Amino acid sequence: MRSLEWIGKSPTGFRKKLRFIDQTKLPLEEIYITTDNYSEIENAIRRLSIRGAPAIGIAAAYAIVLAIQNYQKDFGSFEDYFRHVINSLKSTRPTAINLFWAIERMTSVFNSCINNSIEDILFKLEEEAIKIHDEDIRMCSAIGIKGSSLIPDKANVLTHCNTGALATGGDGTAFNVIVQAVKQGKKIKVYVDETRPLLQGARLTMWEMKKQGIDATLITDSTATFLMQQNKVDFVIVGADRISSEGFVANKIGTYSLAVSAYHHRIPFYIAAPSSTIDMKIKSGSEIIIETRDPLELVEIFGKRTAPLDVDVYSPAFDVTPPELITAIITDRSVLYPPYSASFHQMYASNK
Ligand code: MRU
Repeated sequence: MRSLEWIGKSPTGFRKKLRFIDQTKLPLEEIYITTDNYSEIENAIRRLSIRGAPAIGIAAAYAIVLAIQNYQKDFGSFEDYFRHVINSLKSTRPTAINLFWAIERMTSVFNSCINNSIEDILFKLEEEAIKIHDEDIRMCSAIGIKGSSLIPDKANVLTHCNTGALATGGDGTAFNVIVQAVKQGKKIKVYVDETRPLLQGARLTMWEMKKQGIDATLITDSTATFLMQQNKVDFVIVGADRISSEGFVANKIGTYSLAVSAYHHRIPFYIAAPSSTIDMKIKSGSEIIIETRDPLELVEIFGKRTAPLDVDVYSPAFDVTPPELITAIITDRSVLYPPYSASFHQMYASNK
């Protein structure tokens, strides 16, 4: 299953489109949306129909291609139109660096061919978007292989949110580490946090676990520490939305609590993420902008009110786990250990 599929590479004159699975409808309905309208992709990212850091970046890159394809002179100057498109895409979700990373790549391609014909600009942007997508597929595979070497032959693992094919352009990050370990014949049992408030664990990870035939048990978020106390968790593995150069990791709200609990119980705590999630421009966790979500998502579940009217709500979508709680960061390039600033510098130096 691919969460995003580019319908392109067709004869001249053919209108390219993006096909994506509507993640808000899962697990009840598997609905795919096909569009050539970039605003529809922007809205899909905003309402989490497309979600997960790598998938958001790839979708934004394709959205830029579609926006250029639909450019008409009455939108204003070509350059102003491009800036308007990228600014509105940037405003969708502030935490996942992959969004800004992909937009930056698309912008430098745009700037490099700004004086060319629109057809040529469109061609080059499409080429870059497909490259971003293909790279993510390869990064997911590398993470799966590298990460699975850390996994014992028999283990109980705990994961949070959704890091599978739905969240990426390929086969997933932390999720793919588990899949690869199972494929290697390791006996893995997975505990999946439901991941309040939007239930990415219950709705999406359990759906993907079932598809892969993996032994998985759904738990409430607050059961996780109790399982650790009962010695039922051998390691924790989660994804990331942004990793600072010193190893501070922003990920779905609840990740930090898991890391604190794992540390208390002396359980390894792994992060798995592509190198596109590393933000070398920032050092500390306090520099990461944390998205806060609409209060409605907390006072209602699927349209049914679960809290009194007009209550005060605080709903951060992510939290930041400090490096001292992280055993290792598994990337497509290598498995990194603390101190992370030195490990990142070494990784980039040796990959030059
Ligand atoms: O709000 P979401 O569902 O986009 O949050 C997703 C996560 O927190 C994932 O763990 C992260 O993006 C990594 S996905 C490979």
